[in-house]
Amino acid sequence: MKNKIMILGLLVVMGCASLIPLKVGPPQDITVEITPERLTRGEYLATTVTHCTACHSKVDPEYYSYPSVPGTDGMGGFPFDEAFGIVYGSNITPSALGNWTDGEIIQALTEGVNNKGAPLFPIMPYDRLSIMPEEEIYSLVAYIRSLKPISNKVGKKKLKFPLNYIERTFPKPWDPQPLPDSSDKVAYGKYLATIGSCIMCHTPINDKMEPLEGMDLAGGQDFYLPGLVVRSSNITPDSLTGIGNHSKDNFISVFKSFREPIKLTDGTNNTVMPWVAFAGMTEEDLGAIYEYLRTVKPVKNRVEKYPGDEVSNE
Ligand code: HEC
Ligand code: HEC
Repeated sequence: MKNKIMILGLLVVMGCASLIPLKVGPPQDITVEITPERLTRGEYLATTVTHCTACHSKVDPEYYSYPSVPGTDGMGGFPFDEAFGIVYGSNITPSALGNWTDGEIIQALTEGVNNKGAPLFPIMPYDRLSIMPEEEIYSLVAYIRSLKPISNKVGKKKLKFPLNYIERTFPKPWDPQPLPDSSDKVAYGKYLATIGSCIMCHTPINDKMEPLEGMDLAGGQDFYLPGLVVRSSNITPDSLTGIGNHSKDNFISVFKSFREPIKLTDGTNNTVMPWVAFAGMTEEDLGAIYEYLRTVKPVKNRVEKYPGDEVSNE
């Protein structure tokens, strides 16, 4: 009896939850013109700083930083299998998005809602892409429209309770901000560090996934890879525990050193940081990110990159 009441209660809660209205309006009625400028900019953004192709392609786990396999751009299928359940990188080639309108693609990128009006799980970085101005988003749309069509049916997402309902509360309206002038290194670097998710991955979070106050970019967020935990580094200017002692040239050359994917020799210590994609950024852009990182508050926080048995996924 008690069980029946509980099940009934749960059904009521579930019924109501699916009625939670989304906080976003309908997709825009818009056609994005595909121009050579947009294709060039879109490809640069998608394959480097916003690393769309790192999450939406086939990746090679035998190489450091899971580089995407050439020729598989946008085909999707990568399983993000974590404590919240399982979500697959979608197929974003024209085979899958062919019947989406440009407005629907824009809404997916900036507001986190698909063409059926359903929420996207925020592994898809729409909350960060949401600051991107119109022209930047149009460039991304132009680029993904130009991808080679690859037919690939990806798995179905399964979120654990209560995230499967809470997910509906995450989408919010696109909030485009003016593009900072690239000569304003700090502002432009902050823009890149936001849309590149540096800030998101390098700021520690609590169990509600909220960033810890006063710990911006201080590292220590755990990521789970098969049989391994990797922890994000402190990239504040603290000279002992952060990157305060790195010169700009040194910072840039560390990124550039991943241009050619590196085969793992021991098969274990891998990373979620998309180094290979970021290595494609221009020196100016990496330099701007460096200039921005110099301006954040130094935080003393020593991080063990591979904490080993100290933590477990359960
Ligand atoms: C950190 C990984 C990650 C990055 C980076 C990322 N995505 Fe996604 N994206 C996902 C996942 C996972 C989903 C599926 C979410 C779901 O099923 O709820 C998704 C969903 C989508 C969708 C919706 C597709 C559908 O069929 O519902 C589009 C479109 C998309 N992404 C495009 C992009 C573009 C363009 C970029 C770069 C600007 C990008 N993504 C960057 C992980 C990522
Ligand atoms: C998906 C999460 C993720 C994203 C996105 C990410 N990082 Fe990282 N980063 C990590 C993790 C985990 C490590 C530690 C393992 C390693 O070295 O790869 C790391 C390491 C680093 C290091 C090495 C620091 C040191 O000396 O030990 C630097 C520098 C860095 N990240 C900068 C950045 C910048 C700049 C960006 C944005 C352009 C960024 N990261 C985006 C997860 C991420």
